[in-house]
Amino acid sequence: MTQVLTFLGLESSCDDTAAAIVRVGPDGAQILASVVAGQTELHAPFGGVVPEIAARAHAEKLDHCVEEALAKSGLRLADLDGIAVTAGPGLIGGVMSGVMCAKGLAIGSGLPLVGVNHLAGHALTPRLTDGIAFPYLMLLVSGGHCQFLIAHGPEKFTRLGGTIDDAPGEAFDKTAKLLGLPQPGGPAVEVEARTGNPKVFAFPRPLLDRPGCDMSFSGLKTALLRARDAVVAEHGGLPRQIRADMCAGFQAAVADVLAEKSRRALMLYMEHSPVQPTLAVAGGVAANQAIRAKLETVSQEFGAAFLAPPLALCTDNAAMIAFAGIERFRQGAVDDMSLSARPRWPLDQSAPALLGSGKKGAKA
Ligand code: KG4
Ligand code: ZN
Repeated sequence: MTQVLTFLGLESSCDDTAAAIVRVGPDGAQILASVVAGQTELHAPFGGVVPEIAARAHAEKLDHCVEEALAKSGLRLADLDGIAVTAGPGLIGGVMSGVMCAKGLAIGSGLPLVGVNHLAGHALTPRLTDGIAFPYLMLLVSGGHCQFLIAHGPEKFTRLGGTIDDAPGEAFDKTAKLLGLPQPGGPAVEVEARTGNPKVFAFPRPLLDRPGCDMSFSGLKTALLRARDAVVAEHGGLPRQIRADMCAGFQAAVADVLAEKSRRALMLYMEHSPVQPTLAVAGGVAANQAIRAKLETVSQEFGAAFLAPPLALCTDNAAMIAFAGIERFRQGAVDDMSLSARPRWPLDQSAPALLGSGKKGAKA
Protein backbone atom coordinates (compact mmCIF):
# COMPACT_ATOMS: atom_id res chain seq x y z
CA MET A 1 0.00 0.00 0.00
CA THR A 2 1.23 3.51 -0.83
CA GLN A 3 2.56 5.39 2.18
CA VAL A 4 0.83 8.71 2.88
CA LEU A 5 3.29 11.59 2.60
CA THR A 6 2.65 15.26 3.37
CA PHE A 7 5.18 17.87 2.22
CA LEU A 8 5.62 21.59 2.46
CA GLY A 9 6.83 23.07 -0.83
CA LEU A 10 8.59 26.42 -1.36
CA GLU A 11 8.96 28.28 -4.66
CA SER A 12 10.90 31.51 -5.25
CA SER A 13 12.72 31.11 -8.56
CA CYS A 14 11.23 34.09 -10.41
CA ASP A 15 8.66 36.67 -9.31
CA ASP A 16 6.19 34.58 -7.31
CA THR A 17 6.82 33.70 -3.67
CA ALA A 18 4.86 30.55 -2.90
CA ALA A 19 4.33 27.93 -0.20
CA ALA A 20 2.02 24.92 -0.35
CA ILE A 21 1.17 21.74 1.49
CA VAL A 22 0.50 18.63 -0.59
CA ARG A 23 -0.46 15.15 0.56
CA VAL A 24 -0.02 12.06 -1.59
CA GLY A 25 -1.60 8.76 -0.61
CA PRO A 26 -3.24 5.70 -2.12
CA ASP A 27 -6.10 7.84 -3.47
CA GLY A 28 -3.80 10.27 -5.25
CA ALA A 29 -2.61 13.77 -4.50
CA GLN A 30 -4.40 16.47 -2.59
CA ILE A 31 -3.42 20.13 -2.32
CA LEU A 32 -4.14 21.01 1.32
CA ALA A 33 -3.06 24.64 0.94
CA SER A 34 -1.44 26.75 -1.77
CA VAL A 35 -0.35 30.34 -1.22
CA VAL A 36 1.14 32.50 -3.97
CA ALA A 37 2.31 36.05 -3.34
CA GLY A 38 3.08 37.75 -6.66
CA GLN A 39 5.44 40.69 -7.12
CA THR A 40 3.91 42.25 -10.22
CA GLU A 41 3.53 45.73 -8.68
CA LEU A 42 7.13 45.77 -7.42
CA HIS A 43 8.57 45.20 -10.89
CA ALA A 44 5.94 47.14 -12.88
CA PRO A 45 7.89 50.46 -12.95
CA PHE A 46 10.87 48.66 -14.53
CA GLY A 47 9.02 46.81 -17.32
CA GLY A 48 10.49 43.45 -16.31
CA VAL A 49 11.60 41.39 -13.33
CA VAL A 50 14.51 43.02 -11.44
CA PRO A 51 16.48 40.14 -9.85
CA GLU A 52 17.63 42.05 -6.73
CA ILE A 53 14.15 43.35 -5.98
CA ALA A 54 12.75 39.85 -6.49
CA ALA A 55 15.30 38.25 -4.13
CA ARG A 56 14.62 40.79 -1.38
CA ALA A 57 10.86 40.37 -1.70
CA HIS A 58 11.17 36.57 -1.56
CA ALA A 59 13.30 36.80 1.60
CA GLU A 60 10.64 39.05 3.18
CA LYS A 61 7.58 37.07 2.12
CA LEU A 62 8.61 33.41 2.39
CA ASP A 63 8.00 33.10 6.16
CA HIS A 64 4.55 34.64 5.82
CA CYS A 65 3.63 32.34 2.95
CA VAL A 66 4.74 29.30 4.98
CA GLU A 67 2.72 30.44 8.02
CA GLU A 68 -0.34 31.05 5.86
CA ALA A 69 -0.06 27.67 4.13
CA LEU A 70 0.27 25.87 7.47
CA ALA A 71 -2.69 27.81 8.90
CA LYS A 72 -4.87 27.05 5.85
CA SER A 73 -4.04 23.34 6.01
CA GLY A 74 -4.61 23.20 9.77
CA LEU A 75 -1.26 21.44 10.16
CA ARG A 76 1.93 22.12 12.11
CA LEU A 77 5.45 21.51 10.84
CA ALA A 78 5.58 18.45 13.10
CA ASP A 79 2.68 16.91 11.12
CA LEU A 80 4.69 16.96 7.88
CA ASP A 81 7.00 14.37 6.35
CA GLY A 82 9.36 16.64 4.47
CA ILE A 83 10.23 20.01 2.99
CA ALA A 84 10.69 20.49 -0.75
CA VAL A 85 12.20 23.60 -2.25
CA THR A 86 12.98 24.87 -5.75
CA ALA A 87 16.77 24.66 -5.98
CA GLY A 88 16.93 25.94 -9.59
CA PRO A 89 16.88 26.88 -12.38
CA GLY A 90 15.95 30.52 -11.91
CA LEU A 91 17.08 33.92 -10.72
CA ILE A 92 19.84 33.00 -8.31
CA GLY A 93 19.01 35.45 -5.49
CA GLY A 94 15.43 34.24 -5.33
CA VAL A 95 16.38 30.57 -5.47
CA MET A 96 18.91 31.16 -2.66
CA SER A 97 16.22 32.82 -0.50
CA GLY A 98 14.03 29.73 -0.88
CA VAL A 99 16.84 27.24 -0.27
CA MET A 100 18.00 29.09 2.86
CA CYS A 101 14.46 29.29 4.22
CA ALA A 102 13.91 25.55 3.56
CA LYS A 103 17.21 24.65 5.23
CA GLY A 104 16.27 26.67 8.32
CA LEU A 105 12.89 24.95 8.52
CA ALA A 106 14.47 21.52 8.00
CA ILE A 107 17.05 22.10 10.75
CA GLY A 108 14.42 23.49 13.13
CA SER A 109 11.92 20.70 12.54
CA GLY A 110 14.25 17.77 11.86
CA LEU A 111 12.32 17.06 8.63
CA PRO A 112 14.05 15.76 5.50
CA LEU A 113 14.95 18.37 2.86
CA VAL A 114 14.40 17.69 -0.86
CA GLY A 115 15.68 20.06 -3.56
CA VAL A 116 13.47 20.22 -6.65
CA ASN A 117 14.11 21.29 -10.21
CA HIS A 118 11.53 24.01 -11.00
CA LEU A 119 11.04 22.58 -14.49
CA ALA A 120 10.37 19.13 -13.04
CA GLY A 121 7.72 20.80 -10.88
CA HIS A 122 5.94 22.04 -14.01
CA ALA A 123 6.57 18.82 -15.91
CA LEU A 124 5.13 16.59 -13.15
CA THR A 125 2.00 18.74 -12.65
CA PRO A 126 -0.20 16.44 -14.81
CA ARG A 127 0.53 13.68 -12.28
CA LEU A 128 -0.45 15.98 -9.41
CA THR A 129 -3.71 17.05 -11.05
CA ASP A 130 -4.72 13.93 -12.96
CA GLY A 131 -2.52 11.13 -11.65
CA ILE A 132 -1.38 10.14 -15.16
CA ALA A 133 1.22 7.40 -15.55
CA PHE A 134 4.65 7.72 -17.16
CA PRO A 135 5.56 8.10 -19.98
CA TYR A 136 3.85 11.15 -21.45
CA LEU A 137 4.76 13.99 -23.77
CA MET A 138 5.09 17.36 -22.17
CA LEU A 139 5.18 20.86 -23.64
CA LEU A 140 6.64 23.16 -21.03
CA VAL A 141 5.92 26.70 -22.11
CA SER A 142 6.46 29.65 -19.78
CA GLY A 143 8.23 32.98 -19.35
CA GLY A 144 11.68 31.42 -19.14
CA HIS A 145 11.27 28.03 -20.76
CA CYS A 146 9.94 26.34 -23.85
CA GLN A 147 10.66 22.70 -24.50
CA PHE A 148 9.18 19.38 -25.51
CA LEU A 149 10.00 16.60 -23.06
CA ILE A 150 9.19 12.96 -22.75
CA ALA A 151 8.60 12.36 -19.03
CA HIS A 152 9.78 8.84 -18.20
CA GLY A 153 10.03 9.22 -14.43
CA PRO A 154 10.23 11.86 -11.66
CA GLU A 155 13.84 12.60 -12.59
CA LYS A 156 14.07 11.15 -16.07
CA PHE A 157 13.22 13.34 -19.03
CA THR A 158 14.22 13.32 -22.70
CA ARG A 159 14.23 16.71 -24.41
CA LEU A 160 12.99 16.55 -28.00
CA GLY A 161 13.56 20.24 -28.73
CA GLY A 162 13.11 23.74 -27.40
CA THR A 163 13.44 27.43 -28.13
CA ILE A 164 16.77 28.59 -29.43
CA ASP A 165 16.18 32.17 -28.23
CA ASP A 166 13.21 33.74 -26.39
CA ALA A 167 10.60 31.75 -24.52
CA PRO A 168 7.00 32.40 -25.65
CA GLY A 169 6.02 34.00 -22.32
CA GLU A 170 8.94 36.38 -22.68
CA ALA A 171 7.75 37.19 -26.21
CA PHE A 172 4.23 37.85 -24.87
CA ASP A 173 5.70 40.10 -22.17
CA LYS A 174 7.84 42.04 -24.67
CA THR A 175 4.90 42.37 -27.05
CA ALA A 176 2.79 43.84 -24.25
CA LYS A 177 5.56 46.29 -23.44
CA LEU A 178 5.89 47.35 -27.09
CA LEU A 179 2.14 47.90 -27.34
CA GLY A 180 1.78 49.77 -24.04
CA LEU A 181 -0.04 46.94 -22.25
CA PRO A 182 0.55 45.98 -18.58
CA GLN A 183 2.79 43.17 -17.27
CA PRO A 184 2.65 40.21 -17.12
CA GLY A 185 2.06 40.52 -20.84
CA GLY A 186 0.49 37.13 -21.58
CA PRO A 187 -2.92 37.69 -20.01
CA ALA A 188 -3.03 41.33 -21.25
CA VAL A 189 -2.24 40.33 -24.85
CA GLU A 190 -4.78 37.48 -24.68
CA VAL A 191 -7.58 39.80 -23.55
CA GLU A 192 -6.70 42.33 -26.27
CA ALA A 193 -6.50 39.58 -28.92
CA ARG A 194 -10.14 38.61 -28.29
CA THR A 195 -11.34 41.71 -30.10
CA GLY A 196 -8.67 41.59 -32.82
CA ASN A 197 -8.50 40.01 -36.28
CA PRO A 198 -5.52 37.61 -36.49
CA LYS A 199 -5.38 37.93 -40.30
CA VAL A 200 -4.64 41.68 -40.49
CA PHE A 201 -0.93 41.28 -39.65
CA ALA A 202 0.93 38.36 -41.23
CA PHE A 203 3.62 37.73 -38.61
CA PRO A 204 6.30 35.11 -39.33
CA ARG A 205 6.14 31.50 -38.13
CA PRO A 206 9.90 30.99 -37.49
CA LEU A 207 11.68 27.66 -38.00
CA LEU A 208 8.64 25.88 -39.45
CA ASP A 209 10.70 25.22 -42.57
CA ARG A 210 13.27 23.32 -40.50
CA PRO A 211 12.80 19.73 -39.34
CA GLY A 212 12.62 18.89 -35.65
CA CYS A 213 11.05 20.47 -32.60
CA ASP A 214 13.30 23.49 -32.04
CA MET A 215 11.56 26.86 -31.99
CA SER A 216 12.43 30.55 -32.22
CA PHE A 217 10.37 33.52 -31.05
CA SER A 218 12.74 36.49 -31.15
CA GLY A 219 12.11 37.25 -34.87
CA LEU A 220 8.41 37.45 -34.16
CA LYS A 221 8.99 40.17 -31.62
CA THR A 222 11.14 42.12 -34.10
CA ALA A 223 8.42 41.81 -36.77
CA LEU A 224 5.91 43.17 -34.29
CA LEU A 225 8.18 46.09 -33.43
CA ARG A 226 8.48 47.00 -37.14
CA ALA A 227 4.72 46.72 -37.66
CA ARG A 228 4.06 48.91 -34.62
CA ASP A 229 6.50 51.57 -35.80
CA ALA A 230 4.89 51.61 -39.25
CA VAL A 231 1.42 52.06 -37.69
CA VAL A 232 2.63 54.81 -35.37
CA ALA A 233 4.31 56.61 -38.30
CA GLU A 234 1.10 56.42 -40.34
CA HIS A 235 -1.49 57.18 -37.63
CA GLY A 236 0.55 59.26 -35.20
CA GLY A 237 -0.24 56.69 -32.51
CA LEU A 238 -1.54 53.17 -32.03
CA PRO A 239 -5.31 53.00 -32.63
CA ARG A 240 -7.09 50.60 -30.25
CA GLN A 241 -8.41 48.26 -32.97
CA ILE A 242 -5.03 47.99 -34.68
CA ARG A 243 -3.43 47.14 -31.33
CA ALA A 244 -6.00 44.38 -30.88
CA ASP A 245 -5.30 43.09 -34.41
CA MET A 246 -1.58 43.01 -33.62
CA CYS A 247 -2.18 41.05 -30.42
CA ALA A 248 -4.41 38.60 -32.29
CA GLY A 249 -1.84 38.22 -35.08
CA PHE A 250 1.01 37.70 -32.62
CA GLN A 251 -0.93 35.17 -30.55
CA ALA A 252 -1.97 33.25 -33.69
CA ALA A 253 1.67 33.07 -34.82
CA VAL A 254 2.82 31.68 -31.43
CA ALA A 255 -0.09 29.23 -31.41
CA ASP A 256 0.69 28.05 -34.96
CA VAL A 257 4.36 27.45 -34.15
CA LEU A 258 3.52 25.57 -30.95
CA ALA A 259 0.87 23.53 -32.79
CA GLU A 260 3.11 22.52 -35.69
CA LYS A 261 6.04 21.67 -33.40
CA SER A 262 3.63 19.67 -31.19
CA ARG A 263 2.70 17.61 -34.28
CA ARG A 264 6.36 16.81 -34.82
CA ALA A 265 6.92 16.05 -31.14
CA LEU A 266 3.92 13.69 -31.16
CA MET A 267 5.34 11.94 -34.23
CA LEU A 268 8.71 11.50 -32.52
CA TYR A 269 7.05 10.41 -29.28
CA MET A 270 4.97 7.78 -31.09
CA GLU A 271 8.12 6.28 -32.60
CA HIS A 272 9.17 5.44 -29.01
CA SER A 273 5.78 4.74 -27.43
CA PRO A 274 3.11 3.65 -29.87
CA VAL A 275 0.42 3.23 -27.17
CA GLN A 276 -2.14 6.06 -26.97
CA PRO A 277 -0.05 9.10 -26.04
CA THR A 278 -0.91 11.99 -23.77
CA LEU A 279 0.19 15.51 -24.64
CA ALA A 280 0.33 17.55 -21.45
CA VAL A 281 1.08 21.26 -21.25
CA ALA A 282 2.37 23.28 -18.31
CA GLY A 283 3.93 26.67 -17.61
CA GLY A 284 2.35 30.11 -17.62
CA VAL A 285 1.68 30.29 -21.37
CA ALA A 286 -0.41 27.11 -21.07
CA ALA A 287 -2.98 29.39 -19.40
CA ASN A 288 -3.69 30.91 -22.85
CA GLN A 289 -7.08 29.65 -24.06
CA ALA A 290 -6.35 30.13 -27.78
CA ILE A 291 -3.10 28.17 -27.49
CA ARG A 292 -4.77 25.44 -25.45
CA ALA A 293 -7.52 25.10 -28.06
CA LYS A 294 -4.97 24.72 -30.88
CA LEU A 295 -2.99 22.11 -28.98
CA GLU A 296 -6.14 20.21 -28.18
CA THR A 297 -7.00 20.06 -31.88
CA VAL A 298 -3.51 18.76 -32.69
CA SER A 299 -3.85 16.07 -30.00
CA GLN A 300 -7.16 14.97 -31.54
CA GLU A 301 -5.46 14.61 -34.95
CA PHE A 302 -3.14 12.04 -33.37
CA GLY A 303 -5.75 10.32 -31.20
CA ALA A 304 -3.75 11.59 -28.22
CA ALA A 305 -5.24 12.60 -24.90
CA PHE A 306 -4.75 16.29 -24.11
CA LEU A 307 -4.13 17.48 -20.60
CA ALA A 308 -3.81 21.05 -19.38
CA PRO A 309 -3.73 21.72 -15.64
CA PRO A 310 -6.07 24.31 -14.07
CA LEU A 311 -4.80 27.84 -14.68
CA ALA A 312 -3.50 28.37 -11.13
CA LEU A 313 -1.30 25.29 -11.50
CA CYS A 314 0.02 26.35 -14.93
CA THR A 315 1.76 29.43 -13.57
CA ASP A 316 4.41 29.28 -10.84
CA ASN A 317 3.18 27.77 -7.59
CA ALA A 318 4.55 25.73 -4.72
CA ALA A 319 2.06 22.83 -4.91
CA MET A 320 3.98 21.50 -7.91
CA ILE A 321 7.22 21.78 -5.93
CA ALA A 322 5.82 19.95 -2.90
CA PHE A 323 4.48 17.23 -5.21
CA ALA A 324 7.75 16.89 -7.17
CA GLY A 325 9.56 16.71 -3.80
CA ILE A 326 7.34 13.81 -2.75
CA GLU A 327 7.99 12.06 -6.07
CA ARG A 328 11.78 12.42 -5.56
CA PHE A 329 11.54 11.40 -1.90
CA ARG A 330 9.62 8.25 -2.86
CA GLN A 331 12.58 7.34 -5.05
CA GLY A 332 14.89 7.66 -2.06
CA ALA A 333 16.23 11.14 -2.78
CA VAL A 334 17.03 13.36 0.20
CA ASP A 335 19.31 16.40 0.28
CA ASP A 336 21.47 17.65 3.11
CA MET A 337 22.72 21.10 4.11
CA SER A 338 25.06 21.14 1.12
CA LEU A 339 22.05 21.67 -1.19
CA SER A 340 22.88 24.69 -3.30
CA ALA A 341 20.92 27.04 -5.55
CA ARG A 342 21.51 26.47 -9.27
CA PRO A 343 20.84 29.22 -11.84
CA ARG A 344 20.91 26.61 -14.61
CA TRP A 345 19.72 23.05 -14.29
CA PRO A 346 18.62 21.31 -17.48
CA LEU A 347 16.11 18.49 -16.99
CA ASP A 348 17.72 16.40 -19.70
CA GLN A 349 21.43 16.51 -18.86
CA SER A 350 22.33 14.64 -22.05
CA ALA A 351 20.66 17.12 -24.44
CA PRO A 352 22.76 19.94 -25.91
CA ALA A 353 22.38 23.22 -23.97
CA LEU A 354 19.75 25.67 -25.14
CA LEU A 355 20.81 29.24 -25.66
CA GLY A 356 20.34 32.38 -23.63
CA SER A 357 19.04 33.40 -20.28
CA GLY A 358 16.19 35.86 -20.36
CA LYS A 359 14.86 38.26 -17.79
CA LYS A 360 12.47 35.63 -16.53
CA GLY A 361 15.27 33.26 -15.61
CA ALA A 362 17.38 30.53 -17.08
CA LYS A 363 16.16 28.80 -20.17
CA ALA A 364 17.56 25.49 -19.07
O1 KG4 B 1 5.35 29.55 -15.50
P1 KG4 B 1 5.34 31.00 -15.19
O2 KG4 B 1 4.40 31.48 -14.09
O3 KG4 B 1 6.76 31.52 -14.80
C1 KG4 B 1 7.93 31.07 -15.41
O4 KG4 B 1 8.28 31.69 -16.45
O5 KG4 B 1 8.50 30.07 -14.93
O6 KG4 B 1 5.02 31.77 -16.53
C2 KG4 B 1 4.90 33.17 -16.60
C3 KG4 B 1 4.76 33.57 -18.06
C4 KG4 B 1 4.78 35.07 -18.27
O7 KG4 B 1 5.68 35.37 -19.31
C5 KG4 B 1 3.35 35.39 -18.67
O8 KG4 B 1 3.23 36.51 -19.54
C6 KG4 B 1 2.93 34.10 -19.35
O9 KG4 B 1 3.52 33.08 -18.59
N1 KG4 B 1 1.46 33.96 -19.34
C7 KG4 B 1 0.71 33.92 -20.45
C8 KG4 B 1 -0.63 33.87 -20.01
N2 KG4 B 1 -0.65 33.86 -18.65
C9 KG4 B 1 0.65 33.91 -18.25
N3 KG4 B 1 1.06 33.94 -21.75
C10 KG4 B 1 0.06 33.91 -22.65
N4 KG4 B 1 -1.25 33.89 -22.32
C11 KG4 B 1 -1.64 33.87 -21.03
N5 KG4 B 1 -2.94 33.85 -20.71
ZN1 ZN C 1 7.74 28.37 -14.04
